[in-house]
Amino acid sequence: MSKPKDSTDDGDRRAFITKATVGVSAACSVFPFAAGVPAFLDPVSGNGDNVDEVPWSKVAPLSALPEDGTPTRFGIVRERVTDAWTTLTNVPVGAVYIIKLGEKVKAFNLKCPHLGCAIDHRSDRSDFFCPCHNSSFSLDGSVSDDASPSPRGMDGLETKIEDGFVYVRFQQFRPNLADKVPLT
Ligand code: FES
Repeated sequence: MSKPKDSTDDGDRRAFITKATVGVSAACSVFPFAAGVPAFLDPVSGNGDNVDEVPWSKVAPLSALPEDGTPTRFGIVRERVTDAWTTLTNVPVGAVYIIKLGEKVKAFNLKCPHLGCAIDHRSDRSDFFCPCHNSSFSLDGSVSDDASPSPRGMDGLETKIEDGFVYVRFQQFRPNLADKVPLT
């Protein structure tokens, strides 16, 4: 014979469900924020003062670059980005210009060192230009116009060529400083 329904049991069950719901809601409201903190503080995991700890990102075949040294823009995708709670794969983290110089390459972060806008390549002038506040840069990355507000040249990145592919150690740097300081 089944046990008769007890109104006290119902009350206990309701109280338990209410407490559990409040607990789960509180956890959901806290953890997404907490999970976002490292991403905010370190948008590209692996950045830091020690460049040897910055992972290599595979960019493009060397043969895809123009022989005449014209800069080519590429997006950078990290295969894996990990923080304390999650691991994400194939995460877009920024973009670069790559310039082929014989059998070597040069790479620059596409972000303007002034306040972080995207820098354009002006093929008609053979230079770089940031349209946000009119900073101009030579193809070697240096500031080319005294009126440019950028306090430093474009941020160069370490490169290597392996098995015919160009790799870059992609980093972000603090904006609006004369010195190139990695974001940590
Ligand atoms: S952000 Fe490029 S000049 Fe200001």
